[in-house]
Amino acid sequence: EKDIESKLPLKGKKILITAGPTYEAIDPVRFIGNHSSGKMGFDLAETAAGLGATVILITGPTHFSAKNPNIDTVRIISANDMYEACHKFYGDVDVAIAAAAVADYRPKFVAEEKIKKTAEAFTIEMEKTQDILASMGQIKKNQFLIGFALETENEIENAKLKITKKNLDLIVLNSLRDEGAGFGKPTNKITFIDKDFNIEPMDLKSKEAVAEDILNKVITHFNA
Ligand code: CTP
Ligand code: CA
Repeated sequence: EKDIESKLPLKGKKILITAGPTYEAIDPVRFIGNHSSGKMGFDLAETAAGLGATVILITGPTHFSAKNPNIDTVRIISANDMYEACHKFYGDVDVAIAAAAVADYRPKFVAEEKIKKTAEAFTIEMEKTQDILASMGQIKKNQFLIGFALETENEIENAKLKITKKNLDLIVLNSLRDEGAGFGKPTNKITFIDKDFNIEPMDLKSKEAVAEDILNKVITHFNA
């Protein structure tokens, strides 16, 4: 029996995971999006469910579907949709992992009709979206809260600032410097930084292997 337990170390745990891009509408037929495929979040969800967790996967538009029946997939479009979905479930989870590439800005006004190409040029005024992860950090009780950080300069310093600003327990710093890492690629080069600012650089590896490393941190947290 002990053996079965050790193979399902996350049994009884509820994990919220955000994944994919968000799309921010410009008019009824156009949006501003990004190149996130959702792969990192879906790999995290499958790995967590495989370790015995119950997963709520809140994802932006992606071609992936979850396979494990213990993953409850909530499909959303915009940052505001993702914010509302996260707060519906967050109070009830043990862990939250924000792997989504959430838009930082959205068009301030959404045109009701398709914009016609009459003007020679036009400007889209943008406003900030809610920071979903920071909002979860603000109301954190016992949840183990993990964020990602995508940086191209002063990586470690910027990631540390995000830990503090968003009240995180752990951040997964994603380096885009390495060829083969990041958006649309099968691999990631990450560095873990915890809330005490311990820094642990990892090798370039598949997103599946990165998902395992991240969930090992979760397991270690609950066993400590
Ligand atoms: N995030 C979020 N809601 C947002 C923006 C980001 O939940 N509106 C989360 C991401 O899912 C990620 C973390 O915050 O886990 C960091 O995202 P990142 O884009 O690296 O940082 P930002 O705080 O958006 O700052 P900046 O883009 O200026 O570096
Ligand atoms: Ca951002």
